Amino acid sequence: MNEPLILGIETSCDETGVGIVRGSTLLADAVASSVEEHARFGGVVPEVASRAHVEAMIPTIQRACLDAGVSLRDVDAIAVTGGPGLVGALLIGTATAKALASALDIPLYAVNHLAGHVVVDELEHGPLPQIAVGMLVSGGHSSLLLIHDNAEDVTPLGATIDDAAGEAFDKIARVLGLPFPGGPWIDKSAMEGNRDAIIFPRGLTSSKDQLDHQYDFSFSGLKTAVARWITQQQAAGHAVSVPDVAASFQEAVVDVLMKKAIAACLDHGVEHLILGGGVAANSRLRVMAQERCDAAGIQLRVPSPKLCTDNGAMIAALGSKLVRQGIAPSPLNFPTLSVLPVSTVVLHQ
Ligand code: KG4
Ligand code: ZN
Repeated sequence: MNEPLILGIETSCDETGVGIVRGSTLLADAVASSVEEHARFGGVVPEVASRAHVEAMIPTIQRACLDAGVSLRDVDAIAVTGGPGLVGALLIGTATAKALASALDIPLYAVNHLAGHVVVDELEHGPLPQIAVGMLVSGGHSSLLLIHDNAEDVTPLGATIDDAAGEAFDKIARVLGLPFPGGPWIDKSAMEGNRDAIIFPRGLTSSKDQLDHQYDFSFSGLKTAVARWITQQQAAGHAVSVPDVAASFQEAVVDVLMKKAIAACLDHGVEHLILGGGVAANSRLRVMAQERCDAAGIQLRVPSPKLCTDNGAMIAALGSKLVRQGIAPSPLNFPTLSVLPVSTVVLHQ
């Protein structure tokens, strides 16, 4: 018997993503991004994102069906991001998903965007381990999670207390005169720089912080330190090397992320670490994660960069998993939630 064909819709921020999977095989991953419309504002403008989703939604669904070689009538269930995210943007996806599920008379799963960032790894690296630590690092979130039982049970271990890791990349890029979103530009610039040129602070790593914020992150102090360092250099008439600042800043972020992720694995006796979210596309994070996991005897799982940033395949992958596990679908009147705890993997009311 054929495995279920699932269509996933993602509209939580500025990417209109439509993915199609059969079982855990990826058939299509169509993404339309409005990022260029936000660039001149230096951040995502929610109303602009919502309007772009309205325009991109149907063409992106059509493109995904074409790529996968399927028709909407073949789809067995729809999955959609129910939260967290920008509420106006989410509503375009949830309204579309409700209309499709009702017209096609098929089950609908409203799922958690964050769980999608972790479960997408199954499309490339096979079933999730029974227990794993997940580190989710994106423009809106930086969290360490304990993931049990195939992502049915997700417990937060820690999160950022101020900026998300991606937000820190975006803000520092702006200070350095690099375009938005800054993560990929810092990554690129850092390749030409010296990561040991400047030792920037590692937030929440002091011994006192180990007690109060063992698995939490803070990037706002780092952001201030970088801005202050640049101002001081300029005031002293010294040239500022953008690649050196980018590389040193990136090293500080990645070092803290990996220290805490490895500690979470070791403290909980967990042998698998899964990275997800846009910042997991960072080349230095991917290299350091592999080195430190190898040294600690931890198995690392990281999706390919395209599946780390927001996409519909991750939502389809999570929907497919829920269908195969026999989990009940969401009611058609589920709410769209800008804030959704990471422990709620699927909305049941
Ligand atoms: O997961 P994502 O696409 O959207 C959210 O859910 O937020 O993550 C977007 C974030 C942005 O802040 C972007 O600058 C960052 O991920 N990002 C990166 C890289 N690629 C994307 N940060 C560092 N290095 C990268 N290569
Ligand atoms: Zn995301």
